[in-house]
Amino acid sequence: ASASPSEEKNYIVMGTNAEFEPFEYREGSEVVGFDVEIAKAVAAKMGKELKIEDMEFNSLIVALNNKQIDFIAAGMSVNPEREAQVDFSDKYFKSKQAIIVKADNNEIQTADDLVGKKVGVQLGTTGDLFVSMTEGIEVISFDKGPLAVMDLKAGKVDAVVIDAEPAKKLVEGQSDVKVIEAPFVEEEYAIAVRKGDTELLTAINETIKEMKENGEYDKALATYFTE
Ligand code: ARG
Repeated sequence: ASASPSEEKNYIVMGTNAEFEPFEYREGSEVVGFDVEIAKAVAAKMGKELKIEDMEFNSLIVALNNKQIDFIAAGMSVNPEREAQVDFSDKYFKSKQAIIVKADNNEIQTADDLVGKKVGVQLGTTGDLFVSMTEGIEVISFDKGPLAVMDLKAGKVDAVVIDAEPAKKLVEGQSDVKVIEAPFVEEEYAIAVRKGDTELLTAINETIKEMKENGEYDKALATYFTE
């Protein structure tokens, strides 16, 4: 059997889309966040250097299967469509979709109220899938979640659907937008590797388990999350 690149090199490459605070975002030129902490621990466990490739969310699975990257750590939710293309690690985070609206919008209070509205999403995300499946929503997709929020502020979309923790970060300190109190669609995040890359998958699963046991997981939550 041919060895996967992650077995041959002295580094492993994390693919991500660093537009998703607190999971991955840029601090200057550096990509930081909760997912990066997990990835660093995986690299340390394997005795390898960690490299990070920041790309469009929608390109990650193709990049993984083309061997441009070794794993995806991008707040990626497990779903059957993705499970057909990659192998997922143990789930490491429970998430929901949230809705961001203008602070003075009282009309949109639940996901049902999105029907008939223009809704911004990040291309290829589960939020995109959800609104695209719902009849009567005009979906406007953006390469980056923060760009959708800019268009919301500019009045070009009525709402933005995005994962709950990033939603909190996107409205933090902003008086003109808010997250509505009606999260929907429960999802769970996992790290993706190429199908059959069991060496890397095992290292990732052991790392997640160890971080939960030794307190590093909770420490990273406390460092990066709001509240
Ligand atoms: N959890 C959602 C999904 O899996 C959104 C993830 C977006 N991640 C990012 N790094 N931009 O589709």
